[in-house]
Order: sequence, then structure tokens, then C-alpha cells
Amino acid sequence: MAGSPPKLPDDLPAIAQITSPALREAIVRCWSDSLARSPYQSLAVSPQAPHMPARPLLLHVNEVNARTLELIEVAEKDYGLHPERDVTLATAILHDVDKPILYRWNGASFSYAEGRSLADHGAVGADLCLSHGIPLEIAEMVRHHSAFASEGLPGTVEGTIVHYADFVSNDFAAILSGVDTIHASTRPVPKQRRD
Ligand SMILES: [Fe+2]
Repeated sequence: MAGSPPKLPDDLPAIAQITSPALREAIVRCWSDSLARSPYQSLAVSPQAPHMPARPLLLHVNEVNARTLELIEVAEKDYGLHPERDVTLATAILHDVDKPILYRWNGASFSYAEGRSLADHGAVGADLCLSHGIPLEIAEMVRHHSAFASEGLPGTVEGTIVHYADFVSNDFAAILSGVDTIHASTRPVPKQRRD
């Protein structure tokens, strides 16, 4: 089913903040291709996650982009660190690019697209990125960003920013939705603990 490529830059305003025109165009191609390979017309009707399938992926990606921009500023102003801005922001914009391909939500039940599983998240996105000319450094961060990946994001300032931007966006939405947070499900902590 066809996606809606012309809407993408409007749906994801952070794309306009990427300084490289070639990278901007490659990001739009990646998301357009992902939607074209899915049943969804836009990110607004794609599921965010298996534990929050009714929540639009559009909300999550824009939340991660916003947190990433904030953390870039924190890293620079408060720590004197120098994250590569295009690399960091492009990774944030693309980190969940494979979800429309992998996830199926019919309004009542969630499943993975045929032959896919949790283990494909990240790998499918990274391969899609590489097929559209996204630089290897960014594609490899997409590959390893998942909490359930065998390797995590690199311990660079760029990897650290995207990790926390993704986790806090996921987990605030989880609390709002009344489901388990990712950080607690990967390393269980008592639910009543508040420190
Ligand atoms: Fe995410």
C-alpha cells in the first residue's frame, strides 16, 4: 500500500534541522520506503510499540527528536561536549524507521509482520538506512539502539543522547498508558519505589 511521502517533512519537523541536504533527503526516502512497505498511510496510524500499540509512532518519534535536541544542548552548554549534531539527530529521527514494516495492529490485537520478531527491530531499520545511502555510523546506531539488542548503543556522546532520549520518551508514555516501563522490565525494580 502506498505511503504518503510528501507529508513526511511536515510530520517530522526535526528533519528540517539536519544541515546536510543529502542526509535530509535520505531520511525522507527511508521513512517513505518504510511506509510504502507497510499497511500504514502515515506515522500517525503506525503503532508505537508492542506494549503501546494504540499510541501513534508519530508521537514517539517526535518526542525522541525533541529530547535529543534538548540533550544536545545540555551536552554542549553544561558539559562542554561536542556531539555531532547531524549524526545524533539523524539517528534519533531514524531509530524506529523499521516499526511500520515490523508491527501490525488492527485496533484489537498486536502482532509482528509475517516472519518477523522482536529480534528484527533495529536490524531491519539499519539495512533500510544503508539501502538509501544513510552513513554507516548512523545506520549502525539504528541497528543497536533497542533495549533488547545484543549490543547497545556506543558509549559516545551521540549514542548516550539517543539512548536516554528514546528511553525517557518510551517510559513517560508507558507510565501515561499504565504499562510497564522499559527500564523496569529490563531490570525489575519495585513499582512503589520513587527514589
Ligand atoms: Fe524508540
